[in-house]
Amino acid sequence: MTDLDLRTPAALAAAERWTAHNYHPLPVVIADAEGAWVTDVDGRRYLDFLAGYSALNFGHRHPGLIAAAHAQLDRLTLTSRAFVHDQFADFCQGLAELCGKDLVLPMNTGAEAVETGIKVARKWGYQVKGVPDGQAEIIVAADNFHGRTTTIISFSTDPDARDDFGPYTPGFKIIPYGDLAALADAITPNTVAVLLEPIQGEAGVLVPVEGYFAGVRELCDDANVLFIADEIQSGLGRTGKTFAIEHEGVVPDMYLLGKALGGGIVPVSAVAANRDVLGVLKPGEHGSTFGGNPLACAVGAEVVRLLATGEFQERSARLGARLHDSLTALIGQGVLAVRGRGLWAGVDIDPALMTGREAVERLAARGVLAKDTHGSTIRLAPPLVVTEEDLDHAVAQLAAILR
Ligand SMILES: Cc1ncc(COP(=O)(O)O)c(C=O)c1O
Repeated sequence: MTDLDLRTPAALAAAERWTAHNYHPLPVVIADAEGAWVTDVDGRRYLDFLAGYSALNFGHRHPGLIAAAHAQLDRLTLTSRAFVHDQFADFCQGLAELCGKDLVLPMNTGAEAVETGIKVARKWGYQVKGVPDGQAEIIVAADNFHGRTTTIISFSTDPDARDDFGPYTPGFKIIPYGDLAALADAITPNTVAVLLEPIQGEAGVLVPVEGYFAGVRELCDDANVLFIADEIQSGLGRTGKTFAIEHEGVVPDMYLLGKALGGGIVPVSAVAANRDVLGVLKPGEHGSTFGGNPLACAVGAEVVRLLATGEFQERSARLGARLHDSLTALIGQGVLAVRGRGLWAGVDIDPALMTGREAVERLAARGVLAKDTHGSTIRLAPPLVVTEEDLDHAVAQLAAILR
């Protein structure tokens, strides 16, 4: 095959021509995939070390998830929540039990789970805590990433995410991530919730110092404030446990879940909390046409069953240790720092060598797909089904581009 026969350039040009330029994708056009591997329109194979920002924790086309989706496609796909369907309770019960919470509220995208968490916390603040109407405050961290809606970007500190999208939603206070003293100072009688990522992914896979979340929990308990953990990217096995916050021995009042909950097949998100919190919502006060649809529930219930075995969490912990050991060995050889947990790593490349973007372009040319974040940091997050050989191969490619 000559370069003239390649389908990639035309496919890239067509995508560029017909879509808004709100992404800057790597120049790879994927056609099919299985497990941790994808194949492009020209038959080139790549190891997927982004895994849909953790939406593909179980790999591409996991057989059990695909079977659950196929079976459901043949029976019932959508009812709206105006009626109950026969997949709904199974999914909600399974997920509530996985989270150790009383109730679940299913939505679709991660941003919708975050919006739901914000609305529930505000209503809880007014109805349960007794905050004066319109005064509820939610504390968030600098460099957060919680999604793209107008309310969520109102409390982003990233100019790209925020600039020129105002006017902004009030009611949020931003404090430095990992700073307990700043949190203590920021809490007022009107604070209803603290919303945090257990590990800040977009910021570069930042893991706060040990004890931070125990301190957050204590401050929230003392001030009657809800602690909301955004586990949309960090949860569901990614870090070697079901939830990243478990590493800290802390239980939040609300889990926000998404991404992997849809098994890489459909968008499925959810809020999980106890009755005293989620119970504030009454009929007509919140909802979504597609939230908790039969296809989503069938796939989501299968995701919950996969996680209930503990097999994926164990695999992520075991292979994650191997990944972190081999990445740490590159420190001083073009790598400045490595952070993360389980099969999730933020790798700071020496900026004197290349930017993060250049690094992921060079990795792609060597058959490994990853994503840069700010500056010279790249993120590695393969599907949890990745093999040891695949891990070693990917790290070898990284070592090679740094030489
Ligand atoms: C921590 C976190 N929260 C929320 C979201 C938003 O999810 P979605 O893109 O499905 O709206 C993301 C997406 O990257 C995320 O990483």
